[in-house]
Amino acid sequence: MRLPAEQVEKLRRSYAGVAVCVTGGAGFIGSHLVDALCSLGAHISVIDDLSNSSMQHLSELIALEPQRIRLTHASILDDDALAEAVTGAQVVFHLGALGSVPFSVQHPARVWSVNATGTLRVLEASRVAGVRRVVLAASSSAYGDQPTLPKVESMQGRPLSPYAASKLAAEHLMLCYAKSYALSTVSLRYFNVFGPRQRADSAYAAVVPSFVRALSSGKRPVIYGDGQQTRDMTSVACACLATLLAGASTHAFAGEVMNVGTGRRVSLVQLASTIAKLCGKEGVTPQFEPARVGDVRDSLADISLARSLLAYEPFETLEDGLAQVVAWQQEQVGAG
Ligand SMILES: NC(=O)c1ccc[n+]([C@@H]2O[C@H](COP(=O)([O-])OP(=O)(O)OC[C@H]3O[C@@H](n4cnc5c(N)ncnc54)[C@H](O)[C@@H]3O)[C@@H](O)[C@H]2O)c1
Repeated sequence: MRLPAEQVEKLRRSYAGVAVCVTGGAGFIGSHLVDALCSLGAHISVIDDLSNSSMQHLSELIALEPQRIRLTHASILDDDALAEAVTGAQVVFHLGALGSVPFSVQHPARVWSVNATGTLRVLEASRVAGVRRVVLAASSSAYGDQPTLPKVESMQGRPLSPYAASKLAAEHLMLCYAKSYALSTVSLRYFNVFGPRQRADSAYAAVVPSFVRALSSGKRPVIYGDGQQTRDMTSVACACLATLLAGASTHAFAGEVMNVGTGRRVSLVQLASTIAKLCGKEGVTPQFEPARVGDVRDSLADISLARSLLAYEPFETLEDGLAQVVAWQQEQVGAG
C-alpha cells in the first residue's frame, strides 16, 4: 500500500517514535494500517482475538521489527488484556469489530457486545491509560435508508441492521467520552473499503473480494438484488490515509464524525463489469439473487468535512485499487 509522498513526510514527523495501539490490527484494514504505522516509525501494540483474521501477516512483520510491534492475542472484551495493550499508547486506532451486515442479522447480540460494548471498553481503558486520542473505524451503514445523496454527517442515522446500529452506538460513546471525560475522540465513517487481504473465503465476504474470487476462476459473480444499487468504493490506502491524518491532527477533536469515501459511486453491475475486464473475463455476466435484509440501496459520501478538517484527499482511482486486488488474488492462487 502506497501513501502520497507529501503526506508521508508530514505523517512521519507525527508518528516516528510514538507509541500507538491498533485494535483489530490483524484484520484487513488494521493490517494495512499497522504496515503504514510501522513504515512511519511508530511503536505499535496490536490487540486482536483473530476471530476474523490470522497471525500470518503480523508474524512476518513482527519478525522484521520485533522491537516495534507486539501482539496481544485477546478480545477487547478482556479488560486486563486490553489495559495491557493500550498502556503507553498516545493514539488508539479502534478497528476491532465484527464487520459483516448479514452476520449481524444472524448474531445481533454477539455483534452488539463486540462493537458497542467493546467500544465502551476501549474508551474506558484509553481514558484510564491517559491516551491522547481515540480514532474509531465507524461505518457509512449508519445512514441506512436515508434517501438523500450524498450522505452528509449532519443527517440523522437510520441504521437498517444490528451491525449499523452497533457502529452508530459506538460513535455516540465516542462523543460522550469526549464530553464527559475530555478524551479526544474522532469517528471516521468508512464507505465500502476494499483492497488486498480482504477475505474472500467466507460466506460473509464483501463485494469486491467475492467478485474477484468468482471472476478470476471464471465463475459468475453473485449480486444480491438488481445490481443497480450503488456504492462509494474506497481503497484501503485512502481509508488508512484518513485514519493516520485523524490520529496525527492537532485539531482538538471532541467526538466529531467524518465521512471517509471518494465522493464517487458505482453500481454493482458496473463494478462486476470492471472487475471482469481486469480478470480478462469480459463475457462472464453476474448471477442475480434476491436482495438481502439489512443491505443499503445507495451510498455516496460527501467528503467536504474530512477535506477541511483532515486535508484528506482520495488519491487512488477505483480501477487502480481494483487492479491491486486482482493482482493480489492471483498471487494467492499462485502461492496456494
Ligand atoms: N471493510 C469495510 O468496508 C468497512 C466499512 C466501514 C467500517 N469498517 C470498520 O472497519 C474496521 C475494520 O474492518 P475490516 O474490514 O478490516 O474487518 P476485519 O474483520 O478484517 O477486521 C476486524 C478485526 O477485528 C478483530 N476482532 C473481532 N472481534 C474482536 C474482539 N472481540 N477483540 C479483538 N479483536 C476482534 C478480527 O479478528 C479482525 O482481525 C471494523 O471496525 C469495521 O466495522 C469497515
